[in-house]
Amino acid sequence: MKLSRPDLFRQAAYLAGTWVPAGTDGIDVLNPSTGARLGAVPKITASQTGQAIEQAQTAFHTFKRLTGKQRSAMLRRWYELMLQHAQDLATIMTAEQGKPLSEARAEIDYAAAYLEWFAEEAKRVYGDTILAPKASQRISVTKEAVGVCAAITPWNFPSAMVTRKIGPALAAGCTVVLKPAQQTPFSALALCVLAEEAGFPAGTISVLTGESASIGGELLANPSVRKLSFTGSTPVGKTLMAAAAGTVKKLSLELGGNAPFIVFEDADLDAAVAGAMLSKFRNAGQTCVCANRFLVHRDIHDAFVAKLAHAVAGMKMGDGFDPASQLGPLIDAKAIEKVSRLVDDAREAGAIVLQGGRHHQAGKHFYAPTVLTEVTSHMEISREEIFGPVVAVQRFSNEAEAVEIANATPYGLAAYFYTRDLNRTIRVSEALDFGIVGVNEGAVSTEVAPFGGVKESGFGKEGSKYGLEEYLEKKYVCVGNVA
Ligand code: SIN
Repeated sequence: MKLSRPDLFRQAAYLAGTWVPAGTDGIDVLNPSTGARLGAVPKITASQTGQAIEQAQTAFHTFKRLTGKQRSAMLRRWYELMLQHAQDLATIMTAEQGKPLSEARAEIDYAAAYLEWFAEEAKRVYGDTILAPKASQRISVTKEAVGVCAAITPWNFPSAMVTRKIGPALAAGCTVVLKPAQQTPFSALALCVLAEEAGFPAGTISVLTGESASIGGELLANPSVRKLSFTGSTPVGKTLMAAAAGTVKKLSLELGGNAPFIVFEDADLDAAVAGAMLSKFRNAGQTCVCANRFLVHRDIHDAFVAKLAHAVAGMKMGDGFDPASQLGPLIDAKAIEKVSRLVDDAREAGAIVLQGGRHHQAGKHFYAPTVLTEVTSHMEISREEIFGPVVAVQRFSNEAEAVEIANATPYGLAAYFYTRDLNRTIRVSEALDFGIVGVNEGAVSTEVAPFGGVKESGFGKEGSKYGLEEYLEKKYVCVGNVA
């Protein structure tokens, strides 16, 4: 890895202002593309996690008293440092996550945008005054930082999920103990180096590397942690939710998805194909908002599939550092097994493989971009989040049927549809039970809009003006006996 700032690459955890180096029992981090060992990070224990929480609690008392403008200035400085070192941050990300360097570079901009946004929002926390029922009373509502927050982030967006959680927490005046995914800790640690430089006091941020059982266990059990924000799978989210009940923590859960991508008979097919490519193949399909089920009207099915298959056939898969690569590897062997299992199951159940449907010669963790047709709702591939570069197409005959199929899932994160009919746009966006709806648009993620799902995709919004609210508690003050 060639970095202009080699010190951004830390084989250490960051425990309330102190860098704790990896020992001999550290956890190896591998490049998913080549299998090469990049380095190791320490296995932080439950007791060290407890220390980080205690120091976060101490730091909270002072940090929450800073003005919004002071916290805003630190976040702004962190944002600027991210942009200044964007190339290094992207390089670290590609090395540990595998996504093409250009995509990693785009993620750094996306991640930094959350810091910029919440730097601005830090100055805009408002309360209310309420007309009291008695003449002698005055009622006001203020908003206060929740307290120490735990953040558990996934490997698919190693930087953006960190800033999307830490940004609003710090803007609100909370302190944060972060546990990044075991596969991609170096991006979070590099961000932490820059946060230190931006002036965040010791204890406001800790980045703890290691195993979920010890770190997560303590984060959930410790009563000083007042909120947990988690991005990851629905089964893990349910376990965390149950564990958080013990100390009644506030929660934000951004869990799995099973996004329908509906192409109606009146759609602009070229726009639909472009949107499908964007939505499906971002991060090799390892994105919670990726299109998972393509529902295509029978009248335009063959034309849409032909165009899409042509676009997919032209995709270049390879190592993320090869400038020609548009698709990188999947994260690990487990991910490959899951995608292979889903494709094989669909094939056995009658799906037709138009493209791919096998490993890719680029390496052990590469799965060829795949297009399946004649998929049905009963197949596993329609019920599970694929998290791989597989387009699974099924036909429908009318709008009501498309909406019914789209909603027939316990998930409710993102949904997409393409149409040129204004009435249908309104009708279908209202009928879809999802937190995010893209109409004639395949790329919906942005710091200015609320990201989050409904049903078993979780709750709590990230980004936008709503994102800050998740880290604030309302306090009602009633002043009585006013003369
Ligand atoms: C995710 O996959 O969890 C996040 C994707 C995004 O921010 O677009």
